[in-house]
Amino acid sequence: MQQGQRRSFLVFRVAPIVCATVLVGCVSEQSMLHPAGEDAAAAANLFWVMAAGTVVIWLIVMGITVYAVLGKKRPTTERFADRFILIGGVAFPTITLAALLIFGLALLPDWVRSDRPDLRVHITAEQYWWRVAYELPDGALVNTANELHLPAGQTAEFVLTSTDVIHSFWIPNLGGKMDVIPGRTNLWRLRPTEVGVFRGVCAEFCGPSHALMAFPVVVHKPASFESWLAGEAAGIEEKEAHALFVSAGCAACHAVRGTNAGGAVGPDLTHFAGRRTMAAGTLPINAESLQSWLIDPSHHKPDVRMPGYASLEAAERDALVSYLLDLK
Ligand code: CUA
Repeated sequence: MQQGQRRSFLVFRVAPIVCATVLVGCVSEQSMLHPAGEDAAAAANLFWVMAAGTVVIWLIVMGITVYAVLGKKRPTTERFADRFILIGGVAFPTITLAALLIFGLALLPDWVRSDRPDLRVHITAEQYWWRVAYELPDGALVNTANELHLPAGQTAEFVLTSTDVIHSFWIPNLGGKMDVIPGRTNLWRLRPTEVGVFRGVCAEFCGPSHALMAFPVVVHKPASFESWLAGEAAGIEEKEAHALFVSAGCAACHAVRGTNAGGAVGPDLTHFAGRRTMAAGTLPINAESLQSWLIDPSHHKPDVRMPGYASLEAAERDALVSYLLDLK
């Protein structure tokens, strides 16, 4: 490689990768190194212990290598060489790896938990969004989608299943991930410790829009969570434009509780405008996003199941957009 080529390789290939890696590390809303939950704190601990151990071992090995190459060549006894290999090559790695294994195994969650969680949330993964239902004390479910709210300091149990392919449920700031498998129910517990807004993602390749099924995770103080859940459980007062929502066909797939729209194919839209994002973390909720989404959803999310509504008259689309923005 000539000098000019080498410089452009460094500038255009290596530098962006290094910068991206460093910047990704700075995004604290989706980072297991900024733990806001008990499991994530334990995993971050393990990471830092391993990272520190790796650096120390690397420095020792490099030191020995440099000494071997550049140091004064002195004859050593066979006994010294045997001991050096036995201690450095057998005893040291065995003890270090066994200690790491014990440390890591202690972090595994229990297979069976008999104690009751503080909250149970049913999560169903779909291509490419999340059905979310909060279980009330009387067993009734409050349906919503694509956004998760949790109380800090309480254990939430997720009842995870999928209707199509295998997805994976992961909120890096709160803990590890769990596969979401069709025909199977997996239980997964997390205990957030800090109030804040984090980002959950799908961590298993599930199709062309795998990277477009994220969900904001809002961790509240327990009292504020209770009032949020009470608001979410309440239905919506039927608005005038609701008739258009039904006649345009939206109600066949989407539910708006409190009205006769009870479609169960797509996300529940009851308090849609109160959410932080639309289309599962893909777009901000505003008139522009909604217009564009209604015309051609697959432009924003390849392989999405929702058809486009470019055939609607502009005035009807405007009315639908204001109706949706009013679903608070
Ligand atoms: Cu769902 Cu990847």
